[in-house]
Amino acid sequence: MAAERRSRREFLKRATTAAAAGGLADLLPAGYGEARESDGGGARTPADVAGKHSMRAHAAAHGMLVGCAVIPEKLTGEQEYANLVAEQASILVPENALKWAALRPAPDRYDFRGADIILVFAQAHGQKVRGHNLCWHEALPAWFASTVTRENAAQFLTEHIQTVAGRYAGKLQAWDVVNEAIDPKSGLPDGLRKSPWLEMIGPDYIELAFRTARKADATALLTYNDYSIELDSPDQTEKREAVLALVKRMKANGAPIDAVGVQSHLDASAELPGAGLQKFVRELAAMGLQVFVTEMDVNDRKLQGNAEERDLAVAGVYRNYLTMMLAEPNVNVALTWGITDRYTWLKGAKYGRAHGEPERPLPFDADYLPTPAFFAERTAIDSRRKTA
Ligand code: XIL
Repeated sequence: MAAERRSRREFLKRATTAAAAGGLADLLPAGYGEARESDGGGARTPADVAGKHSMRAHAAAHGMLVGCAVIPEKLTGEQEYANLVAEQASILVPENALKWAALRPAPDRYDFRGADIILVFAQAHGQKVRGHNLCWHEALPAWFASTVTRENAAQFLTEHIQTVAGRYAGKLQAWDVVNEAIDPKSGLPDGLRKSPWLEMIGPDYIELAFRTARKADATALLTYNDYSIELDSPDQTEKREAVLALVKRMKANGAPIDAVGVQSHLDASAELPGAGLQKFVRELAAMGLQVFVTEMDVNDRKLQGNAEERDLAVAGVYRNYLTMMLAEPNVNVALTWGITDRYTWLKGAKYGRAHGEPERPLPFDADYLPTPAFFAERTAIDSRRKTA
């Protein structure tokens, strides 16, 4: 549609002008603001982000994996989404399909259809898959509260992990074995979160989960995953230290843990992550652990300014954050939480912008066009040493 194309052109031009004004011109590739008639003037599949210019090609050239959380129904039901995921990602993670609520319609029944779709898709496109997650206080099925008790909780957790990790044994790059177990605000010893698992099994549930996962799948990298551990604020510093202490206890007890996932749900209006996180990543490296950026997105809900200015602020966070993280030799995997703003979990009243204005936290917008964040992420990847 001509009108749409024109407004896209206008948008690109305004973004370029705003970037120059904000000293961020180097965030955008040459020609970002120029109309390309060969692309229909609207750059629907812009040549400069496909093939060897794609995120996954740049990541491969720099010895790392890059990807996103995916929704199985969109992979099978929406060609444009599937094409984009195939083109850009070398690693996928199910956004919800491997959570208890999705897998377990009833205590004695499993539904692997969603997760299997993702595995099949990934195999067809030469992509790796991370598992997310085996043990969390959220996304528990409706029957959980009335069925799982102090007496049978350890049994439920063990059987779940044996079944799920066992089914995909040898096929996954990693498993988020335990998700979000630290929450100093719960006020409990060791900063542990007050979760159903803690209340029913006690603090040993964490090591039980990791040991069971290792037995079920000897090759997936076993990961502890958490959020709000990126910044140098007092709260996040305290939480990060509690995560580090947890990992140290696990190592001391001989529990199998290979990696820590830093979720990286960042806020464009907050300070940038810095020295504290860098130190944390290096301490984990010294213990032989990898670090994965597992769920990156950048929320712009608290930013003032027009859409172009907000895009650039978001892109600035992508570039600065990923450049810092990817400079660390034990950080070789980065995923965003979704690929397109069309399906970001940040939409809506809880996390989204007031007045329903669209969120733009991801590398592609709701029309599958690359946002400045795409180029910022690719630039950060390029800042690593070339491997080939
Ligand atoms: C979110 C999903 O994106 C939503 O679709 C779902 O409704 C709730 O969970 N940390 C995590 C993810 O580890 O599993 C969460 O995913 C986002 C925060």
